[in-house]
Amino acid sequence: EFDVEIASTGLVVTVPPELSIAQALEQAGVRLMTSCEQGVCGTCLTRVLAGQPDHRDSYLSEEEQAANDQFLPCCSRSRSARLVLDL
Ligand code: FES
Repeated sequence: EFDVEIASTGLVVTVPPELSIAQALEQAGVRLMTSCEQGVCGTCLTRVLAGQPDHRDSYLSEEEQAANDQFLPCCSRSRSARLVLDL
């Protein structure tokens, strides 16, 4: 379990183990564009302002994942207690 913060509104959403970040955000009323929901298409690509994503996609290159400034919230999770997203 970890928290995701929406930078534009300050909204903090807790993501439980059974939900993806995209699902948890949707339940909180935050609309994300998703398509494949498997980390393949790149539709849900979101900028990360703070925190360290736990990348589980197969869309970003290793270099892009290591930069930790963007991730795919349909399948990836968080290594840090909080991720701040540019949403
Ligand atoms: Fe396809 Fe997230 S919806 S990568």
